[in-house]
Amino acid sequence: MSEFNIAVIKGDGIGPEIVDAAILVLDSVAQKYGHKFNYTNVLMGGAAIDAVGEPLPGETIEVCKKSDAVLMGSIGGNTTTSPWYKLPAHLRPEAGLLGIRKALGLFANLRPCLLYPELSGACPLKTEISEKGFDMLIMRELTGGLYFGKRYTEEVDGVMTAVDTLSYNEQEIRRIAVKAFDVARKRRKKVTSVDKANVLDSSRLWRKIVEEVAADYPDVTLEHMLVDNTAMQLVRDPAQFDVMVTENMFGDILSDEASMITGSIGMLPSASLNETKLGLYEPSGGSAPDIAGMDIANPIATILSGAMLLRYSLDMSEEPDAIERAVKKVLSDGYRTGDIMSEGMTKVGCKRMAELIAYNI
Ligand code: IPM
Ligand code: MG
Repeated sequence: MSEFNIAVIKGDGIGPEIVDAAILVLDSVAQKYGHKFNYTNVLMGGAAIDAVGEPLPGETIEVCKKSDAVLMGSIGGNTTTSPWYKLPAHLRPEAGLLGIRKALGLFANLRPCLLYPELSGACPLKTEISEKGFDMLIMRELTGGLYFGKRYTEEVDGVMTAVDTLSYNEQEIRRIAVKAFDVARKRRKKVTSVDKANVLDSSRLWRKIVEEVAADYPDVTLEHMLVDNTAMQLVRDPAQFDVMVTENMFGDILSDEASMITGSIGMLPSASLNETKLGLYEPSGGSAPDIAGMDIANPIATILSGAMLLRYSLDMSEEPDAIERAVKKVLSDGYRTGDIMSEGMTKVGCKRMAELIAYNI
C-alpha cells in the first residue's frame, strides 16, 4: 500500500463543497487501487483572515511544503460587499493565493481546456466551430509579471497615480518555455507563444528566449501570436491551439475566455507546479460566493484537478485515467449540474455529481 500526504485548502465560497466532492472521488480511487491519502486541512484566504487575521498563515506554508501535494478549492468573496475587501491589499484573500504560489515556487500553471463532445451544446460558439471540438493546454507563467512586480499608489504633483510593474528575466521565461515544449512533445507538438511584442519590452525578451528554447525542440512547431489577436482566435477557431504559453496576466485573462467556450468554467482543472514534484491543484474558477453552500456548484473542475494531482505529484497514470473516464461516463449518462444543464438531461447537485463519479471509478 502506498501512502501520501495531501494538504487541503478548502477556502471560501463554494471551496469547501467542491473540495469535499474531490475528496470523495480521491477516496474512491484510494479504495480501488489500494492507496492511503492522509489529508491535512490548512487555512488560506478569507477563511484564514476570519480565523487568524491573515490570508496566509506560516503554518499553512509549512504543512504544504511537507506534503506530497496541495488540493485547493477557491478563495475570495464578493469584492464589492465583503468586508475582506476593506482591508489593505496585502491582507486580502487573493494575497494568500499569490503568496502560496510564490512560497512554493509554483511558476507553471497548466490549464487544460477541452470541449467534451457531450457538452458541445453548452459551448456558446456557433455549431460549425464547436462541432470541430478543441483540446488545448494553457501554460500560464504564475510567479512573475504584473502580479508580482513593484506596485504603489502615490500623489504626483497633486494627482493620484498608481503604478504596477511588468518585469520578466530570461530565466523566468526559459523555465516556463521549457515546460511548454516538454508538454507539447507529449501532445500534438505545437506551441503558440502569446505576447504583445509590438509594444512591450518584456514581450520582446519573451519572444527571443522562447525562440532559443524552441531550437532544442526541432520536432515541435512554434508560432508567436499577439495577445489581442489570440483573444479573437480563441472564439474564431479554438481548434488551432495545442499548447499556449504566456505570461501571468495574459494567461489569467485568456484562460477564463478559453474556459467559457468549453461550456462552463466549472469544468476546468488546473495544476500549478514547481521544479519538484510538489504541486497545487485547484479548479480554474473562482469562489462563486453567490451560490456558496447551496449544493449546486459544479465539482468537476476540482475532481479533475484531483486527477492532475495524482498524475503530476504522485506519478500515477491508471488512477487519473480512471477519474477522467468516470467523468466522461457520468456526462454521457446524461447527468449535469446547473451550469452545464441542457434539455433532456438529469440535473444533479454538487454532492450527487461527486457520488456518481466516485461510483464510476
Ligand atoms: C486565477 C485567479 C487568481 C489569479 C486571483 C484570485 C488572484 O483569477 O487563479 O486565475 O489572478 O491568478
Ligand atoms: Mg483568473
